[in-house]
Amino acid sequence: MSGRTIVLGAGGMLATSLADLAQRSGVANEWSFLTQEDLDITIDSRVDAVMAALKPDWVINASGYTNVDGAESDAAAAHLLNGDAVGGLARACRKHGSRLVHYSTDYVFDGSADRPWREDDPTGPINEYGRSKLAGERALAQSGCEHLLIRSSWLYAAHGRNFVRTILDRLRSAGKVRVIDDQRGRPTCCDDLAQFTLALMDSPVRGTVHAANDGEASWCEFACAIRDLGAPDAAVEPCRTKDYPTPARRPRYSTLDLTRLQSALGWRPRHWREALRDVIERLDARGG
Ligand SMILES: NC(=O)c1ccc[n+]([C@@H]2O[C@H](COP(=O)([O-])OP(=O)(O)OC[C@H]3O[C@@H](n4cnc5c(N)ncnc54)[C@H](OP(=O)(O)O)[C@@H]3O)[C@@H](O)[C@H]2O)c1
Repeated sequence: MSGRTIVLGAGGMLATSLADLAQRSGVANEWSFLTQEDLDITIDSRVDAVMAALKPDWVINASGYTNVDGAESDAAAAHLLNGDAVGGLARACRKHGSRLVHYSTDYVFDGSADRPWREDDPTGPINEYGRSKLAGERALAQSGCEHLLIRSSWLYAAHGRNFVRTILDRLRSAGKVRVIDDQRGRPTCCDDLAQFTLALMDSPVRGTVHAANDGEASWCEFACAIRDLGAPDAAVEPCRTKDYPTPARRPRYSTLDLTRLQSALGWRPRHWREALRDVIERLDARGG
C-alpha cells in the first residue's frame, strides 16, 4: 500500500476526493493533508523542512494554478506554482527519498490530432496554463525523482467549483445555457481520478500516464447530459468557439488515450456518463 503519504493543496477539488478515498480505503491514518496555509509549495525552504520532518513515502501534489483564463493575464503566478514550485518539490522528493505523484493536463497538447493523445505524443500547448503545466512536467522529468505524472482532463466533482455545478446552477436558475460544441475531450470525475491514483501508486507503473473516464464528449454534449439528469426542462443551446470568446484559446480535440492506464489497472475506467450520474445523485441528495 501507499505508506506515509502527504497530499498538498488539500483544500482543492481533487484533494477532497483523495481525502474521501483515503478514508474509505482505511489508509487515512497514514495520510496527512496540507492546505496552502499549512504549506505554500512555492517556498522551497518550507517544502524542505516539511519533507525532512515527515519523511513521507509518497507526496501527492494536488495543488495547482487552475484558472485557465486567469493564466493569460497572470502568467507569472501560473508558472511559479505549476512550473517552478513543481521543480522545487521534485528535487526535495529526490533528496528525501520520497516518490511524487503530480497531475498535469490535456491542455499540454495543441488539439490538432484526430485520434486520442498518447503519453509520448509531442506536446504543444496553445495557452499559458498549458505552457505552465508543461514547464512543471519538464522540471519533474529533470529532477530525477521517482514519480507518477498523471495527465487528466475536464475534472468535476460534487464539491468545489467546476463545470457540472456551474451548468446545473445556470440551467436551474435561468432555464437555459449556451455551450461550445466544437471542443472535444474526456470529462473526468475526481473520485475516479483519486481511485486511479491509488491504484497506480500500488502498481509498478511509473512515469507519465493518461488517466480519465472512458468515453468522450463536446462541452455541449456534456452539458446536455447534465441537463438530462438534473434539469430536464431546461435548454442547452450549442455554439461555436468563435461565438464564445475567452481570454485563453483551448484545444479543439484533447481526448487522452487510456491504453496505458487500462493495462496498469487491469480494468477499464467507467464511462463518464455513469460517473456523472453518481455525482448528480449526490448533489441532489444533499440539496445542491
Ligand atoms: N480542474 C481540471 O479540470 C483539471 C484538469 C486536468 C488537470 N488538472 C490538474 O489537477 C490538479 C488538481 O486540480 P483541481 O481542479 O483539484 O485544483 P483546485 O480545486 O483549483 O485546487 C488547487 C489547490 O491548490 C492550492 N494552492 C494554490 N496555491 C498553492 C500554493 N502556493 N501552495 C500550496 N497549495 C496551493 C489551492 O489552495 P487555495 O484553495 O487556498 O487557493 C487549492 O486548494 C492540478 O494540478 C490541475 O492542474 C485539473
